[in-house]
Amino acid sequence: MDRMRVVGGKTLRGEVRASGAKNSALKMLFASLLAEGRHEFSNVPDLKDVDSSFALLESLNCKARREGDRVIIDVAAPGNFEAHYDLVRKMRASILCLGPLLAKYGQAQVSLPGGCAIGSRPINLHLEGMKALGAEIELKNGYVHASVPGGRLQGGQILFEFATVGGTENVMMAATLANGTTYIENAAKEPEIVDLANYLNKMGAKISGAGTSIIRVDGVKSLNASQHRVIPDRIEAGTLLLAGAIAGGDVTVTDCVPDDLDALLAKLREAGHEIHAGPNQVRIKSSGGARCVDITTAPHPGFPTDLQAQFMSLMCVSEGVSVISETVFENRFMHVTELLRLGADITPKTRVAVVRGKPGGLEGAPVMATDLRASACLVLAGLAARGETVVNRIYHLDRGYEKLENKLSSLGAAVERF
Ligand code: EPZ
Repeated sequence: MDRMRVVGGKTLRGEVRASGAKNSALKMLFASLLAEGRHEFSNVPDLKDVDSSFALLESLNCKARREGDRVIIDVAAPGNFEAHYDLVRKMRASILCLGPLLAKYGQAQVSLPGGCAIGSRPINLHLEGMKALGAEIELKNGYVHASVPGGRLQGGQILFEFATVGGTENVMMAATLANGTTYIENAAKEPEIVDLANYLNKMGAKISGAGTSIIRVDGVKSLNASQHRVIPDRIEAGTLLLAGAIAGGDVTVTDCVPDDLDALLAKLREAGHEIHAGPNQVRIKSSGGARCVDITTAPHPGFPTDLQAQFMSLMCVSEGVSVISETVFENRFMHVTELLRLGADITPKTRVAVVRGKPGGLEGAPVMATDLRASACLVLAGLAARGETVVNRIYHLDRGYEKLENKLSSLGAAVERF
C-alpha cells in the first residue's frame, strides 16, 4: 500500500497549475446518462473517483475512455438500471446517477451508500426531491428502487431543508427531462453546480438561476450529447495555497478561479499572509509570523468544509488560538487525533475544535489518513513539521488529488510516495 514521506522545513517557491475539479467532473460524467451519443469533456483530472465513475457508467452500457485530460463517454441505452453496491460503496457520488436514470428511463435501482468517515451522510433530501417530481421510491435490501408512473417525471417545487450539493445536482438533472417547470429552493450555490448547469444547458436543457438559491428548470423533451471543459478545482487550488502558507515562501497557483476562493483568501489575508489575485491565478507570499484566525465552514460562498482540515494544519503552526467550527458535516475532525501525533495542541468538541498554535512546534511522526481532505491536511502538516512524517493510507488522497506529491515537489517540497 502506498505511503507518502514528507520531510518538513523546505520553503516552497514557484508556479503550479490547478487541475480540473473532481466534484464537477464526476457530476458531468453522470449527466451524460441523460443523452445517448458521444460526450466529450476536457480538463478532467486523472483520479481514482473518476475511474470509479467510469466503472459505474460501463456497468450501464456506456463506453468511457481517457486521452490525456480529455474523456469521451459513448452513451447507449442501458440493459439494466442498477448502480451496484460494490460501485456505490467505493464512491458515494454514484448516487448522482439516480436523477439521470429516472429522468431518461423512468427507473433506477441504486444501492444506498452507507456511512462514511466524515458523517452519516443520508440521502433523504435526494429522495424527497425525486418524490416531489413524481417518482415512487421504495427502500428494499439496501437499495433505492425508484420508478416513475407513466415513465416521465413531472415538474415540481422543492424546498431543501439544507442546501445540499448532491441533492441540488440530482434534482436539477432529473428535472431537465420532466414535464413542466421545476423550482429548487434553498439550492446549493457551489461553482460546481453552475458548471453542471452550463453543461446541461449545452445539451439543450433550460436551466436558470444556478449559483443562486433558486434554480428554475423548464423541462424539455430530449437532450443531446455535447462537449465541455471542466472548471478548475478550487479545493485543490486552496490546498496548494495552504501548502505555500504553511511551508512559507512564494507560491503561485495558476489556472484557478480566484472568485471561487474568496472565503479562503479572506482568511489567509486576515491571518497575515500576502495574497495577490489575478484573473486566473493566485499568488501567496508567506514569511512566517502568521496569526491564528477563526473559521466556520458553511455552504458556498462560506468557508468550504473541504478545506477545513488543511486550514487546521496551518493554524497548528500559527501564533495564537483558533476556533474551528464545522457546520456542514457532523464528524469531520478525524484528522485531529493524527495532528496530535505530530505535536499539535487541539481540543476537539462536537463540531468545534480549539487549536492553540505552536509556531515551529510540530515534529514528524507516522500518521494515518482517514479521508481525502484529512490526507491532504496531514501532508501539509508534514511540510511544517521537523523531520520525517509518513502518511499511511494515502489511497484516500488519490481519490481527489492528481499527483499531489509531484505538484508539491515541483515547488521544492521534499515529498515522495513509496
Ligand atoms: C459534496 O458532497 C461534495 N462531494 C463534498 O466533497 C463536499 O464536502 C460537500 O458537497 C459539501 O460541500 C461531491 O461533490 C462529490 P451535501 P455532498 O449533500 O453532495 C447532509 C470531498 O472531499 N445531507 O451538500 O454529499 C449531509 O449529511 C467531498 O471532495 C442530508 O442530511 O454534500 C451533510 O451533513 C467530501 N441529507 C450536509 O447535508 C441529504 O439527502 C451537506 O451534504 C443530503 C445531504
